[in-house]
Amino acid sequence: MSADDKYPEESGRRRFVKGVVGGSALAGVGALGTVTVNSATASPGSGGGTTQAWAIENTGGPAPRGMPQIPLEIDSEGYIKGVWPSVETVAQGGRQVQVAEMDLGGTTYSSEWFQYCGVEGYAGIQPDYESENYFRSGSNPAYDWQSQRKEGGDRFHVDDFSDYEEWGNGIGTAGVGKPATGRWRSEDAEDVIPIQLMRSSQIEEAAQDNEWLQASTDEGFIAWLNKCTHFCCVPGYKQTEDAARFGDPNNVYCQCHQSTYDPFSLVQTLFVARPRPD
Ligand code: FES
Repeated sequence: MSADDKYPEESGRRRFVKGVVGGSALAGVGALGTVTVNSATASPGSGGGTTQAWAIENTGGPAPRGMPQIPLEIDSEGYIKGVWPSVETVAQGGRQVQVAEMDLGGTTYSSEWFQYCGVEGYAGIQPDYESENYFRSGSNPAYDWQSQRKEGGDRFHVDDFSDYEEWGNGIGTAGVGKPATGRWRSEDAEDVIPIQLMRSSQIEEAAQDNEWLQASTDEGFIAWLNKCTHFCCVPGYKQTEDAARFGDPNNVYCQCHQSTYDPFSLVQTLFVARPRPD
């Protein structure tokens, strides 16, 4: 990752936005409807530019912002999949480029949300990459329940999380949320897009009166791109006792430089998405 990504041009503005949102937990989401975003800023490559994404809030450490949420849905058989916007070709910077973008829950959801830390060059983040969009288990999951129940590549099913209101692993408080680690849009691809999936009654309750959460979560499930916005490590939820030394043990924790994220606080973040290489 380059310094550009860590210190984007609009960093002053981004901090302002985050400052506004920082104090608001789930109850406060949606307060930033008036922020103006120009997602079509011309830059080398395709797409990229100033982007506003929903993210799990960065609560500590050197990370500059939260990690982007992946809207999800549950299919008719109970399997959980990420939402990928439909692909359009638009004129941008004087040429035709593909974008994956849609209106969802009162916001513009775009593949640009994930264009940082080199992910912008991954096959799965290209708008027209063909995928069924299911979240799939990783080969070496961080949780005993997952390694006992899932093989690498298996899809996640609602039934895998039926004990979500009691589940615990000795780290933090039991019953807060049941997590899994895996990948998305990465079958047949060289680079794996890491995700974290969780089911929590807190998300279920918050979604009842929140337009964005109603549209982007389902039955208490929430997912995010699991790439730290600092230097691109893969953080973890309840994966190490160390998390407790740097804040809430129920938060997501990045072991590389101790950044923390709160998966129960969704905020809007403004950043400069990197263009997809041509
Ligand atoms: S805190 Fe530095 S990479 Fe996560």
